[in-house]
Amino acid sequence: MKDRVKSIISQMTLEEKASLCSGKDFWHLKGIERLGIPEIMVTDGPHGLRKQSGEADHLGLNQSVRATCFPTAVTTASGWDRENLFEMGKAIGEECVQEEVSVVLGPGTNIKRSPLCGRNFEYFSEDPFLAGELSAAWINGVQSQGIGTSLKHFAANNQEKARLVSNSVIDERALREIYLTAFEIAVKKGQPWTIMCSYNRINNVYSCENQWLLNDVLRGEWGFHGLVMTDWGAMNERTKALEAGLELEMPSSGGYNDRKIVEAVREGRMKEAVLDCAVTRILTAVLKAQEVKKKNYDKDRHHDLAQKIAEESIVLLKNDGMLPLNKASSYAIIGAFAEIPRYQGSGSSKINPHRVDGALEALRNMGMKCEYAQGYELYSDEIQQELINEAVACAERSAGAVIFAGLPDSYESEGFDRSHLDMPKNHNALIEAVAKVNPHVTVVLHCGSPVLMPWKDDVEGIVLSYLGGEAAGSASAKVLTGEVNPSGRLAETFPISLGDTPCYHHFANEVKDVEYRESILAGYRYYDWADIQVLYPFGYGLSYTEFIHEGMQIEWDDEAGKGCAKVTVSNKGKRAGYEVVQLYIGKEDTSVMRAPKELKGFQKVFLNPQETKTVKLLLDKRSFSYYDIEEHGWIIEDGNYQLYAAASSRDIRLKTDLKVNGKVIMRNPEYKVSDVVKNGRFSCSEDQFKKLFEGELPLIPKMDKISLNSTVQEVLEQESGRNAFQEMVDHFNKKFDGEDDLNVMMRAMLKDMPLRALGMFGEAVMEDIEKKVKDMN
Ligand code: BGC
Repeated sequence: MKDRVKSIISQMTLEEKASLCSGKDFWHLKGIERLGIPEIMVTDGPHGLRKQSGEADHLGLNQSVRATCFPTAVTTASGWDRENLFEMGKAIGEECVQEEVSVVLGPGTNIKRSPLCGRNFEYFSEDPFLAGELSAAWINGVQSQGIGTSLKHFAANNQEKARLVSNSVIDERALREIYLTAFEIAVKKGQPWTIMCSYNRINNVYSCENQWLLNDVLRGEWGFHGLVMTDWGAMNERTKALEAGLELEMPSSGGYNDRKIVEAVREGRMKEAVLDCAVTRILTAVLKAQEVKKKNYDKDRHHDLAQKIAEESIVLLKNDGMLPLNKASSYAIIGAFAEIPRYQGSGSSKINPHRVDGALEALRNMGMKCEYAQGYELYSDEIQQELINEAVACAERSAGAVIFAGLPDSYESEGFDRSHLDMPKNHNALIEAVAKVNPHVTVVLHCGSPVLMPWKDDVEGIVLSYLGGEAAGSASAKVLTGEVNPSGRLAETFPISLGDTPCYHHFANEVKDVEYRESILAGYRYYDWADIQVLYPFGYGLSYTEFIHEGMQIEWDDEAGKGCAKVTVSNKGKRAGYEVVQLYIGKEDTSVMRAPKELKGFQKVFLNPQETKTVKLLLDKRSFSYYDIEEHGWIIEDGNYQLYAAASSRDIRLKTDLKVNGKVIMRNPEYKVSDVVKNGRFSCSEDQFKKLFEGELPLIPKMDKISLNSTVQEVLEQESGRNAFQEMVDHFNKKFDGEDDLNVMMRAMLKDMPLRALGMFGEAVMEDIEKKVKDMN
């Protein structure tokens, strides 16, 4: 392969080489016929294949071919099952083979910093170890079929607000321990063919042109061998990006940036060797993709797999004895989601499924006696009293009621974030009204992120189905009836209120600089550290059986830096089921700021009634390390560590101490709870935050002039800006004036879109936009 690539490059002109560094259109890389270089197709991702049918529309919003819609990442993450992620990846790889797609754009590995992020449904977890392990499994599954993946969005892309221009201001330790670790695990264990750079800046440097991130960390430290591409429209300065290690710009810039590359080489501003290196990486991926032979997949088998994964990912949050349902009784099945589940999220990941199973139909097919009442309108928040009355009457004549509720599409999507954690008022009102007339109520939730549950104490059961893919309805039905014993565990914390979240004051506000003041205290790390009560903790989930953790043994070899924890679990109940053994590690006498415990191992294990098994969880140096900002490296602090075998982050079953030899560290913990948690809220001053940085905070410098990076809103605030761009903006708004979720998403993004992105959406050629900007200044 190396020689072939070399020989092709030696025959290429400078223009041809530059042209390979950007897309042909929205979904294809360019080919060069005379050299036998094919045009390969890359497409979304991540929970199925979103291959646009017919002509690409330069926006990527056209209908896509039918494909299996697997459960979204928030759902699969709750399965805590590497094998399922591998199988799902493999199936998606098979669909790519049939559809002649070479690279699928996923997985989404970003950390859930706030439950408000509109795209949380596409991401796995608030914990980097879990997110990294599951990403790696999925990557390995897809790539086992000779299809590439694109690990995204690298990195620190944790909100949708102003996503094309925001600046994630993060201290080095938090970046390493929280926001990069998941990617690091995925790269080292999965070796994705490609990585997709995020839109945002990190500490004032765009990810796409970040030498440190791409060349030093990703390639130098982690040993990444593949190619790096931009997120769609993320390119800022072309040659800077190329030099930083970003090869491919997606989609096309209409030749604008290719010409910049040619000019830079001709004028001696960039060495041709930099371009050759980029072209080598692009060609290597393209030629690898050529090796795949077309073959059809079995869509029924994939549907069954989607169902199995959904079943094993559903989290039983509450059960006061109502579940599983009794087949001899008759139930009121309430809520429009019972007929049409919400099974995926909106935006670039939206799949056109082969079919969608509704829970109502599935329950009836299973022989359950069900009476249905709609309860609320699917596309409105307004309380429809007649619908509620009908549901109440239905519940009154039934043995119990199962209410399907949650978040509609309009509440969470790529392109914007939520501003609160509430469910629509018509869903809450329905649950409250039904619970008043029947003591036996179970709520099944479809949502892509945590919600508040004001009715929690009034219902007997809560089943979190999240967004379970095309077989979501059948999966919920199986769990409700007990054909499947629920085994999902939360991969994120459900807080009691939004104000409890550690980034409450610094998430997606009106400024571009987003200060990650909570530093390493993301998710359960913070709630444990600050001792904050939560609605449901990370790692939590009930079962229809009972598991006992019987014993834990630790083996550790300081010199080899390796070991394991062996945890013995038994099923003491009457039903077979899966337990998720979770291993957390903490250091009570630490001299650095540390969460009381961090997830360092997990294993899902199936146990028949009365069966006992011992699971082995591997340990390595990183299990005990923290990232030291004075040494700029991972360090094991000498001393005693606590290893916890747990059923959730707040349900520790066994604890063992282990002495680990390391370095004696004498530091003052950066934050003290009493200094930064006021009245139960994380509230850290700028001065406190600044101490985590070596110098000033890396904020975006104030700009007096309009530039290609100015947002539409900034430009329209000026008269000259309105004169130059109002027409383009109006045209954009008109083009996306529909009320469906994709149009709503596009309109939501416009205000915070930089001028350079208007080129990608076909509003004007880049040269014209550039000229208008020049004329304005
Ligand atoms: C999204 C990516 C996606 C790409 C192509 C971008 O807007 O952020 O996740 O892969 O579009 O659709």
